[in-house]
Amino acid sequence: MAELTAVQADITTLAVDAIVNAANSSLLGGGGVDGAIHRAAGPELLDECRQLGGCRTGEAKITKGYRLPAAYVIHTVGPVWNGGHRGEPDLLASCYRRTLEIAAAHNLHSLAFPCISTGVYGYPVAPATAIAVATVKLFLHKSPHNIEKVIFCCFSTGNLTVYRELLGELTDSIT
Ligand code: AR6
Repeated sequence: MAELTAVQADITTLAVDAIVNAANSSLLGGGGVDGAIHRAAGPELLDECRQLGGCRTGEAKITKGYRLPAAYVIHTVGPVWNGGHRGEPDLLASCYRRTLEIAAAHNLHSLAFPCISTGVYGYPVAPATAIAVATVKLFLHKSPHNIEKVIFCCFSTGNLTVYRELLGELTDSIT
């Protein structure tokens, strides 16, 4: 059974097989976690991303991690929040599922997700967290994989609290 956990960290510091990037459909970088990942990985990441021809919302593509401690980056494009009736929940679930399918296909053992779509793209944190946790749990139970550890990497204490409550972890263990 794979371990599911939430931490508060800068995702670029995590030594996992793959970190996940909340990218935009150009895959050519941006702000937020995307900007942080490109800065930490170095310009070779952008060079590889230029070869990928972009990525549709809800889809994912893998690159190497270059100067990151993580060996790979899986870039996924979350939906922009438009009130919740334009397919946002399905598209967000698809981001988590497609990322996990790619991780499994590459025989990865550990990965870390940021809170996809909850920054610039405006997805409310509580429903986004519910989708993230449910989709990852379902995949880990039902699909073939060698994943041993999935980390939900939160930048803010507020997001961490929401994840820990859903995962059944004690919020008072935050250090
Ligand atoms: N480590 C972990 N999480 C982070 C980090 C970090 N270093 N930096 C920010 N976050 P966002 P989105 C959190 O806006 O909403 C970009 O410009 C942040 O607090 O990065 O999917 C892309 O190019 C928030 O909880 O991604 C796209 O254009 C979460 O990461 C657009 O933003 C996601 O916030 C994508 O928007």
